[in-house]
Amino acid sequence: MDLKELKNLIVEFKDDAKKLSSTADFEELRIKYAGKKGKLAEAFEEFKKLGASEKKEFGQKLNELKREVEEEIAKLQENFLNKKSESPIDTFLKTLPGRQPEAGHLHIITQAIREIVEIFKPLGFVRVRHPEIDWEWFAFEVLNIPATHPARDEWETFFVDAPEDKKYGRLVITPHTSNGQVHEMLKNDLPIRMLGISRCGRRQEDVRHLQTFFQFEGLAVDKGISISHLKGTLDYFAKNFFGPGREIRLRPYVFRFTEPSFEVDINCGLCLGKGCKFCKGGWVELGGAGMVHPNVLKAGGIDPKIYTGFAFGWGVERTYMMKSGTKIDDIRHLFNNDLRFLEQF
Ligand code: FA5
Repeated sequence: MDLKELKNLIVEFKDDAKKLSSTADFEELRIKYAGKKGKLAEAFEEFKKLGASEKKEFGQKLNELKREVEEEIAKLQENFLNKKSESPIDTFLKTLPGRQPEAGHLHIITQAIREIVEIFKPLGFVRVRHPEIDWEWFAFEVLNIPATHPARDEWETFFVDAPEDKKYGRLVITPHTSNGQVHEMLKNDLPIRMLGISRCGRRQEDVRHLQTFFQFEGLAVDKGISISHLKGTLDYFAKNFFGPGREIRLRPYVFRFTEPSFEVDINCGLCLGKGCKFCKGGWVELGGAGMVHPNVLKAGGIDPKIYTGFAFGWGVERTYMMKSGTKIDDIRHLFNNDLRFLEQF
């Protein structure tokens, strides 16, 4: 670009400016002349290449030109941005980057449920669902807990204010997923490998308890199922879910629907067994397990002389909290719906 071309540039600019009819045109003009790779920038590049004698006049002209173009653009900008456009498309600058909507993620308990399902799949366990509001009959009676038995008190049950059924009793918000055991047996489709995951409700709330929580219930019924199958299944799950350096232990316990029965504990993922606010003694109870009681098999129409089975029922939230590295020390955080908490995962 020589001096003559430089002088022509302002004429060209003014001609172009006269033709503007929209904000978009204005933006195009601004980029063409004052943009990073525009004509002014090009002229400045040219200037750098000149010898000392030519630099003086070219530089002076270039600075004048720059001032003029900038002043003109400022004026035009004011006109265009304040002017009401006919087309809405002209009211925004097309070079302005759009706003990215925030991307969320599945709730961590939904993610945990999906992971649990995937871990049990290779062993042949199929995910099923059973009623979350169900008759006492399925939640207790067929699980070998008759109406008069004191074991019913342990379940901190919410009863639904609805008419009672003569055979099935009252409606309850299921306090555990074990109600699904007999529902599954009554499908009359043996052998069984089920993984029932549903919401449960109990009258409890503190650092380890929620009123509404999830359990996953495993049930295997077949010929020749023994306690070693149960132990192997639980060990396999723990190894795959919790991460290295973790241990589970089985503690003898009493459930009316399994015999023998166990509580299954894991060394606490927060303090690794030292003892903390969440676990107290270094171990956290994940759930119960045992060999299906013959009375339960009978209630499901299965002959306990031919078939045996194992069952387990664990809390999804507690199981997730015990995963290495989660560091959640109060179960209630999970459902407070506070994004500052949820966004950490
Ligand atoms: C039961 O619910 C038995 N149905 C488990 C079972 C199934 C035993 C099959 C034998 C065979 P338990 O009441 O211990 O057992 O509860 C099991 C787990 O559910 C607890 O260890 C805990 O992880 C979770 N859980 C129970 N109540 C709550 C609660 N209020 N909030 C959060 N998690 C809970």
